[in-house]
Amino acid sequence: MTETISRAAANQAGARINANAYAEAQDFLPLKGIDHVEFWVGNARQASAYYRALWGFTPVAFSGLETKVRDRASYVMRQNDITFVFSAPLTPDGEIAEHVRAHGDGVHNIAFLVDDVESAWRETTTRGAVSALAPREFDGGEDGTLRRSSVRTYGETLHSFVDRSDYHGAFAPGYRKVKNPARAAQGLSLLEVDHCVGNVELGEMDTFVDFYRDVFGFSQLIHYDDKVIHTDYSALMSKVMTNGNGRIKFPINEPATGRKKSQIQEYLDWYHAPGCQHIALRTEDIVATVRQLRENGVEFLGLPHEYYATLADRVGDVGVPIDTLEELGIEADRDEEGYLLQIFTRPIQDRPTFFFEIIERHGSRGFGVGNFKALFEAIEREQDKRGNL
Ligand code: FE2
Repeated sequence: MTETISRAAANQAGARINANAYAEAQDFLPLKGIDHVEFWVGNARQASAYYRALWGFTPVAFSGLETKVRDRASYVMRQNDITFVFSAPLTPDGEIAEHVRAHGDGVHNIAFLVDDVESAWRETTTRGAVSALAPREFDGGEDGTLRRSSVRTYGETLHSFVDRSDYHGAFAPGYRKVKNPARAAQGLSLLEVDHCVGNVELGEMDTFVDFYRDVFGFSQLIHYDDKVIHTDYSALMSKVMTNGNGRIKFPINEPATGRKKSQIQEYLDWYHAPGCQHIALRTEDIVATVRQLRENGVEFLGLPHEYYATLADRVGDVGVPIDTLEELGIEADRDEEGYLLQIFTRPIQDRPTFFFEIIERHGSRGFGVGNFKALFEAIEREQDKRGNL
């Protein structure tokens, strides 16, 4: 019965799920998954400590002055299939310093693992992508050769293609393995990147939907219009693009006009460009993971008691007592395929820009549309505190 209600609710809300999206995606660009995400930050040493001590990431590789790199320091951090790289500038000018000055800390590169960086670059650039790095081999001596190419996407964000099949070193040539890494926070089980969300300017959502369809061969998984995602004040529109194996899911958001400022517009105003709004990390134990993250000092958005008072009626049994969900601030949503549990952090840097989502999926391939209204009201409360509503 719950499913009937929720399907009716979803239809009424206007969210459209394309069940054949994966099959419709074109295969001229086979992507094996997300290889890593690189953040450009003001202080990479401190960022790496934050992700180690609060989020449970283990330092695996480093490059900087000690590896004869003179313009930047980079720390590679890993947890299961998630690899993050944090890079900071060592000089007052240059691309990282300029990026940090304009945007604050943020996502610079969402890199894909591929078998053929030459083909990936050719297929995308001949379809209209702007090259950021022509296919190149990086010689790692006895560690072998890493191949890489890159193209541009929204704002100043890049997508790199990485082929590691002939490389056996720590991360990439120029990096050295971290021996005896400091102990990472325990009790966390973040498994992989579930999806990466891009915020683009008003009127640009379809430009980037077309870009991922025409240039990357993705297809559209879901469309949420501003009738779905709105409060009394603000609204946004979102379309979700996915690749053929379903491992890459990229929602693209644009602000919609409301009585007050959309949270997407707040992001654009403070990031000073389109960019990555949030990355969702998948876990199979959201309760233990969020409990530990909270103990470690990670801050999450809070939802009011009223959200939980009626939650069981909306989603049925989700395997976790509602009291526990409320205690930890975890949200639940159900669609025709199953359910999901999710939670969102506050922005993780001083600017109200990038944040994380933690997600546990049980059949649902959605993004928690049933939570959007409650969630956006929570975000608006915080926007209001920042004077940005
Ligand atoms: Fe998300």
